Amino acid sequence: MSTTSLFYTTTLNPSSTFKTNLLSSHHHFNKLQLTHAPFSFPLKTHFHSTKRLSLAAAASPISLDTPTKSSFRDKPIKDINVLVVGSTGYIGNFVVKELVNRGFNVIAVCREQSGIRGKNSKDVTLSKLNGANVCFSDVTNLDVLEKSLENLGVEIDVVVSCLASRTGGVKDSWKIDYDATKNSLLAGKKFGAKHFVLLSAICVQKPLLEFQRAKLKFEGELVEESEKDESFSYSIVRPTAFFKSLGGQVELVKDGKPYVMFGDGKLCACKPISEPDLASFIADCVLKPDMVNKVLPIGGPGKALTPLEQGEMLFKLAGKKPFFIKVPIEIMDFAIGVLDSLVKIFPSWEDAAEFGKIGRYYAAESMLVYDPETKEYSDEDTPSYGKDTLEDFFKRVLEEGMAGQELGEQTFI
Ligand SMILES: NC(=O)c1ccc[n+]([C@@H]2O[C@H](COP(=O)([O-])OP(=O)(O)OC[C@H]3O[C@@H](n4cnc5c(N)ncnc54)[C@H](OP(=O)(O)O)[C@@H]3O)[C@@H](O)[C@H]2O)c1
Repeated sequence: MSTTSLFYTTTLNPSSTFKTNLLSSHHHFNKLQLTHAPFSFPLKTHFHSTKRLSLAAAASPISLDTPTKSSFRDKPIKDINVLVVGSTGYIGNFVVKELVNRGFNVIAVCREQSGIRGKNSKDVTLSKLNGANVCFSDVTNLDVLEKSLENLGVEIDVVVSCLASRTGGVKDSWKIDYDATKNSLLAGKKFGAKHFVLLSAICVQKPLLEFQRAKLKFEGELVEESEKDESFSYSIVRPTAFFKSLGGQVELVKDGKPYVMFGDGKLCACKPISEPDLASFIADCVLKPDMVNKVLPIGGPGKALTPLEQGEMLFKLAGKKPFFIKVPIEIMDFAIGVLDSLVKIFPSWEDAAEFGKIGRYYAAESMLVYDPETKEYSDEDTPSYGKDTLEDFFKRVLEEGMAGQELGEQTFI
């Protein structure tokens, strides 16, 4: 990672004043209230313009002593500066597009080599983030990130984090899902952010995996931050499964291969949500007062689907006779047991053991709202949003393949 902070801009707007009266209704929201969705340096900075050469650096430097109350929600959308971290990820990229389309002034923070295994060059990254102001920096280094934001010379109103470990490994989960996300909170707040939208995951309700513990720790600290500072708020978005996570067998079925599932195919269920629908939901969180200071579990339209139902849907769409292979879940338990024993001898195998646990988790745990008292998942209690269906996604993948839906180094989260 280069430590050079580069900032490519189209329409970055400095905020000249902090106004009073942020979120007059803010205090009325309970902290960490689980709710249904409302439908309820770097030493140098280089400025480049990708569009209109309308760089608008702050007329005067940001004073960090400025009064803490502001009213970004009162500003015209074009003047609201939204910092997006994790902007080059599967969801982050859609979030950037959605915010740009809604007219926000988006600052997308990213690495110089982005994407799965860093395959995207700077130029590719810039084209993927078209319409946003792109800031090349390092979210894993607080000093670097703060310096990059300082060099922008603008106030941040809202931070949206779509950061996630690309591997799901133990150390990387803590490095990204906790440390880097925390850096984004600290740096964002330092430069004026009054609201933080976090892309989390519904599975943190029952945390058995390191990345879930890392996310949960950050969620807790985000809530604490809002409790300490009444002018600061959060929206924690906990989606169910993404389409990409369920599309892995579409092309196999199309080629006449069996659909593989664990147990009887009914061990778990989810309400899959498409990337544009989730991005729209996340963008709603930027301004909607009824999404403030809430934990928002969210799924896509329709009822929850088990792997068996997904497989049946797929065979029907592919015009093939159903052909299932049912794998006993105990096989995974055995493999995890072996890996856990090996980790005691070979600590470097900890990620392999963690990946086994991740696989086991998603084979048996539903991505639905969980009641810790009854220990049951509920389809009815899991809110739906959007219009894209898994059926339409399967049809599209059957026709066009899985291009653009790559899962990355890890294939479960
Ligand atoms: N898959 C599902 O079904 C599902 C369901 C519910 C919730 N979720 C949650 O959704 C979240 C986002 O998922 P996603 O699929 O959009 O993630 P993703 O595609 O893997 O994107 C991860 C983002 O984090 C950035 N990042 C990772 N490591 C970094 C590092 N060392 N330095 C700087 N940036 C780094 C990536 O930047 P680069 O491009 O530079 O690597 C990328 O922008 C995850 O937290 C996941 O748990 C997933």
